Amino acid sequence: MVTHYLFPLRTKFFYTCMFCCLFSLFMIASLLFHAPADILIQQSPVSSSLLSGEYLVTAFAVAGIGSALCCYLLARYFSRRLSLVQRAIQQLASGKLDIDLEIDGSDELSLLASQINQLACRLSNERENMLLSVIESLINALEAKDTYTYSHSSEVADIALHIGQALHLPDDQLFQINFAAILHDIGKIGIPTPILNKPEPLTDEEWDMIKQHPVIGARIIAGIPFLSHVSDIILHHHARWDGTGYPSSLAGTDIPLGSRIIAVADSYQAMTSTRPYRESISHQEAIRQLTRNAATQFDPDIIAIFIKLYANKYGSPA
Ligand SMILES: [Fe+2]
Repeated sequence: MVTHYLFPLRTKFFYTCMFCCLFSLFMIASLLFHAPADILIQQSPVSSSLLSGEYLVTAFAVAGIGSALCCYLLARYFSRRLSLVQRAIQQLASGKLDIDLEIDGSDELSLLASQINQLACRLSNERENMLLSVIESLINALEAKDTYTYSHSSEVADIALHIGQALHLPDDQLFQINFAAILHDIGKIGIPTPILNKPEPLTDEEWDMIKQHPVIGARIIAGIPFLSHVSDIILHHHARWDGTGYPSSLAGTDIPLGSRIIAVADSYQAMTSTRPYRESISHQEAIRQLTRNAATQFDPDIIAIFIKLYANKYGSPA
């Protein structure tokens, strides 16, 4: 986020002019009334000889230099603020919308800064809405292609969100996990449909193709600026706690937290729903399997939280 500081120009201009005037008066009065003692003793400070003498010339010269310095500083101040606004407009023109000009006051430059902020915000919202529409279309396309993905992603997102809330994660992290859970299998759009819907066990070659879906999904999402962290979560949602997952060998807490949460939610949802190659199992049996695989496949802390959450809903496994 780019932050520029702007101050009310009229106020600054007024105070600078006041300072210049006071500075000039001070310098003149200072040189007139603090002239060498012998002159002060011998002559009145406002006598014609002093007013027309070298002291008055010096006083005006010093006051002039002081005023010129103040004007230079004021001009530099305006120039710097204007260049900040110009840079913000250039950023807008180049498509970088993370602009936040800080506004202090109600002068013309502050108004311009406020309008730039509003424009950046509106363009950013429009771009996000457009990207979300594209993502929604991708999800619809995937659901049409893979019948078993239907409602799977939204249920995984629901479970993952509950786990994240139980972990007291901040809102921005919950947002990322929710998005990643909805999109975690989006990469399956790049896998041939007959393989996705094959009722028989997959061959090794077919499994290798399926294992590419986190990479494909991460690539699709990586191009969306405000979902860059979501891309990383998607990439590792099939990582295992012991490091034997795919596509990389990340293990333990090196695996993004969102990926570890989605791994549990995804497995639970998959086990408790019917797939082409097997029937669903009960909640209690799914919990037993998750518990058996804690510390090998899943993060044991997340399994403990999940069991606690769902024990309240369905009761503890027998
Ligand atoms: Fe997956």
